Amino acid sequence: MGDIRYDKRVAVITGAGGGLGKTYALLLASRGAKVVVNDLGGKPDGTGASHSAADQTAQEIRDQGGEAIANYDSVSTPEGGEAIIKAALDKFGRVDIVINNAGVLRDKTFAKLTPEELNVVLDVHLKGAFFVSQPAFRAMKTQNYGRFVFTASAAGLFGNFGQTNYGAAKMGLVGLSNVLAIEGAKNNIRSNVIAPIAKTRMTEELLGPLAEFVKPELVTPLVAYLASEACEVTHEIFSVGGGRYARIFIGLTPGWFAGKDTVPKVEDVADHMAQIRSTADYIIPDGIGDEMRQIAKLLR
Ligand code: NAI
Repeated sequence: MGDIRYDKRVAVITGAGGGLGKTYALLLASRGAKVVVNDLGGKPDGTGASHSAADQTAQEIRDQGGEAIANYDSVSTPEGGEAIIKAALDKFGRVDIVINNAGVLRDKTFAKLTPEELNVVLDVHLKGAFFVSQPAFRAMKTQNYGRFVFTASAAGLFGNFGQTNYGAAKMGLVGLSNVLAIEGAKNNIRSNVIAPIAKTRMTEELLGPLAEFVKPELVTPLVAYLASEACEVTHEIFSVGGGRYARIFIGLTPGWFAGKDTVPKVEDVADHMAQIRSTADYIIPDGIGDEMRQIAKLLR
């Protein structure tokens, strides 16, 4: 494959003042993208705010001969999302790439989780991605081009102790991306999700001995590919960390068909659990139609 570049492309990267987002901003800018470096500049739990993180990434890009502006709006309100995309449109005239990456943690066991700890996490990860992506999507539709990358987490896709708020927000992003991929298809707008593993300020105390091997820079090439014109995939989810790049998918098994015009007993369901749960011959649906077609075939 020839060089992948982003000349004339405008990228908005949320939470790009540090960690993973900064690596995306630096790589895309080094290959020609004009970048809006968004970061609220707070602490890992979402408290506080400062301009220094976004300013620093934007300055590093400019020092290396690239083009970037800093933006300090919070993704977590509709006004913030609008302002972030407006910054891209006002300065660079378009928006081609949105990498939804901003994130905070408020880990707590489910029994002890407070409404505030739920809301902060949903507001930044899930609603924040809506608020930034919607104005961007509208602009992308008019230009018939767009690339979205959403940042989920194994904590939601697979589950992790003490992270119901975070896991719910992260799985919500899978639903958002799946629908965006379908709605954007006819306008050449692609949308994919990553579940990264990397040593950043968010995870350095959680990763144990793995930490030194999971450099953020190992996540960057996959994200940069998904953000590129060369990206042919959409509607997919990827696991990325420590130099391993893999697909995650939601599969649907053939299951057990009780028969037409029969309402099975609870005990019938219990008796068929092995067949219902068997992963043999699963499909990976591209939308609700694939599931409906399977059922229609059985009923015909
Ligand atoms: P990080 O803490 O270095 O980066 C998150 C950035 O988001 C910070 O710079 C922070 O200031 C910014 N941010 C927080 N709230 C914001 C808001 N309301 N508006 C704008 N910016 C805001 O952590 P890291 O690890 O780089 O995280 C990046 C993304 O990757 C997050 O969504 C995180 O949940 C996700 N992730 C990271 C994993 C890892 O192993 N590092 C694992 C799974 C997911």
